[in-house]
Amino acid sequence: MLLVLYLTLLTTFLPFSIVAQQTNGNDFVPVGASLTATDDGMPWLSPSGDFAFGFQRIQQKESFLLSIWYDKIPNKTVVWYSKGGPMVPRGSKVELRDGRGLVLSEPQGKEVWTSESNISDRAYGFMNDTGNFVIVDAISRKVWESFCFPTDTILPTQVMERSGEINSKISETNFFTGRYQLTLLPDGNLILRKRDIPSGILYNVYYRSNTRNDTNKTNSGLQLIFDESGLCIF
Ligand SMILES: *[C@@H]1O[C@H](CO)[C@@H](O)[C@H](O)[C@H]1NC(C)=O
Ligand SMILES: *[C@@H]1O[C@H](CO)[C@@H](O)[C@H](O)[C@H]1NC(C)=O
Ligand SMILES: *[C@@H]1O[C@H](CO)[C@@H](O)[C@H](O)[C@H]1NC(C)=O
Ligand SMILES: *[C@@H]1O[C@H](CO)[C@@H](O)[C@H](O)[C@H]1NC(C)=O
Ligand SMILES: *[C@@H]1O[C@H](CO)[C@@H](O)[C@H](O)[C@H]1NC(C)=O
Repeated sequence: MLLVLYLTLLTTFLPFSIVAQQTNGNDFVPVGASLTATDDGMPWLSPSGDFAFGFQRIQQKESFLLSIWYDKIPNKTVVWYSKGGPMVPRGSKVELRDGRGLVLSEPQGKEVWTSESNISDRAYGFMNDTGNFVIVDAISRKVWESFCFPTDTILPTQVMERSGEINSKISETNFFTGRYQLTLLPDGNLILRKRDIPSGILYNVYYRSNTRNDTNKTNSGLQLIFDESGLCIF
């Protein structure tokens, strides 16, 4: 038996947009395409324009975050960012590269993050209307999805497998790993716990779903599903 856990982490939804935004045929991001961190850089948009992938300038500072955000609301709420939340300076670049996948590098060339996807030059990236940025290879197989590497947010249709986790950020503008963690343990229990930020040590489990079943392990929690079903297998 598959025990499904439902959790509503986002309580506010986007206002329904009546007029579909005209897509300009640039929905598919080809290998070789790149984005640069500037004030007026155009992100890669989903077909409806609801979600954007690119660099978001954090407050008025000279630091940018590679992220996915709701593009149609004034606050441009970030729903995903590159692991650890590293800020990069103006002029940094993210490129979809042959053999590498997404590669984030600073202006002097220092690599900060990569999706580590060994793609061919016929692969492409796609910002889906669900908020999932996917890399699809030449045989139409998904080789990387932002949904499989959640940071602090789970979106509708997103699934977390056992050992998956999301972590709060330090503050509204500091995206380094913060104080709270939600994780689905390998034994099927969903827990919330606190972290000591300086040391990174996790302690104080203050919520436990009690969905671990030692009598019959197949009755233990398997996935955390927000809204609809899906599966990440690599
Ligand atoms: C465990 O639970 C599943 C689903 O309820 C059931 O089909 C299976 O027979 C159970 N196994 C044992 C050993 O009780
Ligand atoms: C948008 O951001 C401002 C400034 O951080 C905040 O005061 C406001 O509550 C936010 N609005 C929403 C709807 O989250
Ligand atoms: C990437 O894929 C190619 C073609 O399948 C293969 O020859 C190569 O060894 C792979 N490289 C890595 C680093 O896995
Ligand atoms: C975008 O998401 C929808 C809904 O999950 C899915 O049916 C579709 O295949 C996705 N598109 C791509 C290119 O992954
Ligand atoms: C664990 O599974 C057993 C066997 O299916 C069942 O009788 C029992 O009620 C389950 N316990 C919990 C806490 O779900």
